[in-house]
Amino acid sequence: MKFYNDHFLSVEQLDPNSIQSLFILADKMKKYTDRQLTSKVLDGAILCSLFFEPSTRTRLSFGSAFNLLGGSVRETVGSGASSLSKGESLFDTAKVVSHYSDVITMRHPDKYSVNKFSKGSTVPVINAGDGANEHPTQALLDLYTIHKELKTKKKLINNAHIVFIGDLKHSRTIHSLCKLLTHYKGLNITFVSPDALTMPLQALDELYDSGVIINQTYHLEQSFNCDVIYQTRIQEERFNSQEDANKYRGIYRLNQSVYQSSFGNSGIIMHPLPRDSRPQANELDTDLYPLEHESKKSNLRIFEQSNNGLAIRMALFIKILDVESSLGSNDQPVIWKTNR
Ligand code: CP
Repeated sequence: MKFYNDHFLSVEQLDPNSIQSLFILADKMKKYTDRQLTSKVLDGAILCSLFFEPSTRTRLSFGSAFNLLGGSVRETVGSGASSLSKGESLFDTAKVVSHYSDVITMRHPDKYSVNKFSKGSTVPVINAGDGANEHPTQALLDLYTIHKELKTKKKLINNAHIVFIGDLKHSRTIHSLCKLLTHYKGLNITFVSPDALTMPLQALDELYDSGVIINQTYHLEQSFNCDVIYQTRIQEERFNSQEDANKYRGIYRLNQSVYQSSFGNSGIIMHPLPRDSRPQANELDTDLYPLEHESKKSNLRIFEQSNNGLAIRMALFIKILDVESSLGSNDQPVIWKTNR
């Protein structure tokens, strides 16, 4: 992927060099995400943010990332608030919205809808999640989190053992992340899911063809020796009925006791979030977070993971809008201070 002026619709567009260059740039975003400096490289640029499905992290972090680089954000939230609800096509919407903006981020419940939309857009479109298909920027921030965490242990992504748990059939974040993992060597991946919610066969084939050792199981009650545990939610919005989804809610609950017995308290714990904290689901228990008086650092990385989305999305805007060479030239110290 050359990035400049490209649509970013799928992680399949990325090669190892483009991933590495994004991660290097994301590392440089710390002074902005920590609010030490402000950048104006996107001063005058407009992001139109079109979210036709619920979101907290993706929508707000795309917006904050754009703002932190000096750009402005216009947004529409929910299909009922846009003229799609009056029968307007994605193509026509794209024709119109791209005239108002320099870049567009879009989330939509239908697979490949963002791709369809991009055909009508005259500015770059970034896929913020299209149904159960892909969530490319989430996969990048997930991979960036794994890369950073393993680096602290002097390890590489190569040769890692990753365990994915939950609704693997509908998890677009796992679908995209697994495509990125095909670029690495010596990987061992275990998929834990009910039979009805296994990874799509095509995704398994791609991993197998790239040399990944794959294990599939239904049981969480066994001994795993892994570097990363990636838990996910039952994606109830993708089921035919609530009743159908309810059959699987709460099927895999990762709590301190399971973490101890199945994982020996080792391996970082990730989740794309939101986690379903309702008692009947509770796939990631709050008892995994250390109490304030405990000095031991928890292996839970879910909030570092979502924080990393800001730096990754900033890096992506910089590359797609081609302002990397101007970065830093007119930085200003942040004049206000917030206690974080
Ligand atoms: N991980 C993720 O996509 O979260 P949101 O749905 O809140 O954006």
